[in-house]
Amino acid sequence: MSILFDNAHLLQQDGTAIPSVVAVEGTAIRYAGPKSGLTLRMRKTIDCKGGIIMPGLVNAHTHLGMTLFRGFCNHLPLEEWLQKVWALEDLLTEDDVYWATMLSIMEMTAAGATCFLDMYFHMEGVARAVADSGMRGVLSRGLQSLGAPGNRVQEARALYADWHGAGGRITTMVGPHSVYTCDEDMLKQSIALADEMDVGLHIHLCESRQEVADCQKAYSCSPIELCEKLGLFERPVVIGHGVELTEADMDILAQHPVTVAHCPGSNLKLGNGIAPVAALQQRGINVALGTDSAASNNNLNVWEEMHLASLLQKYTARDAGALPAAQALEMATFNSYQALNIDGGLSEGNVADLVLVRTDKPVFMPGLDAAADLVYAAGCGDVAITMVAGRIVYDHGQWPTIDIEEVSRNIERIAARLFP
Ligand code: NI
Repeated sequence: MSILFDNAHLLQQDGTAIPSVVAVEGTAIRYAGPKSGLTLRMRKTIDCKGGIIMPGLVNAHTHLGMTLFRGFCNHLPLEEWLQKVWALEDLLTEDDVYWATMLSIMEMTAAGATCFLDMYFHMEGVARAVADSGMRGVLSRGLQSLGAPGNRVQEARALYADWHGAGGRITTMVGPHSVYTCDEDMLKQSIALADEMDVGLHIHLCESRQEVADCQKAYSCSPIELCEKLGLFERPVVIGHGVELTEADMDILAQHPVTVAHCPGSNLKLGNGIAPVAALQQRGINVALGTDSAASNNNLNVWEEMHLASLLQKYTARDAGALPAAQALEMATFNSYQALNIDGGLSEGNVADLVLVRTDKPVFMPGLDAAADLVYAAGCGDVAITMVAGRIVYDHGQWPTIDIEEVSRNIERIAARLFP
């Protein structure tokens, strides 16, 4: 299928949007630029009516299976929250995780996301949902020392063997959960596993003060220092959160191929504070955006994270110039593409992961600054079309690849069992 997005404005990396067309053929962008330069003939034409086409957003830290727990326990600190959630997780089946992931993908694609980085269990269910829905996903099996850690490592191996590279839309990473759930041996095993598969790692680090204090008590160093000592940062790593970082921690991170997945919504709601994004970026450390789970956030809307990230840095620095809108957009797109090895962005040859935003709405008028309009005035409700790998997965309130009724029927059935 070849599709021409006609009469659009293309969002540039500097935050401006210029009149353009985008031609998509198969899974890739064949042309993006002024209509006068288009020589291809496309089978289908979509009139964008002057709307903005932007690169697909990436949710760089998720636990999609937990969307089943949305609204289950609010107003609790991380440690108490974890205890409640872990008890419920024991009841989950792969089928539950499949349907939770389908539901999550509906929510994310409607909000302009085209890819996510997940850490959970029953990852076969997550992978099947990604395959069935047409979404793009980077999947990591969460690893911990408790219980039967060997089984989890086996599952991580199987996830890689069965799904890494599948359909050109799924890749895998190794996911040691954290320094408080993985002992040194498990962290070392995780690094060895990532070496063996030649993939990156995905881990929670420095999410709360308690985590850092416990690590200091157990190891006499910070979580970042512990991971560096073990060699974890020798491979590409995505760190979920990175709230409680010292200057020394950030100096360590700056020397390694590390991305911090900033999760402002979850951090605020769990009362964990605000990550030092400006200080990270000053050191050249890559910062992406994630929602964390719908059990803590309580949504999977990366758009909201862009808005929060920008405002929070202005607030902490008492500086209106901190984290401008175009930079927030870059964090949700290109910074994640870099972290997750995706040829994203609206230029020829890149994967056709894109979002059409309707601009015939009050929030886009008078239309003086595209990036500022998108981040501060608009919201995910202004997304008209989301395309992943050349396929439309969300279209004006409809999900062409997903049976909505089947998803809601199954969510209702599972919720009735989990919350009798
Ligand atoms: Ni998390």
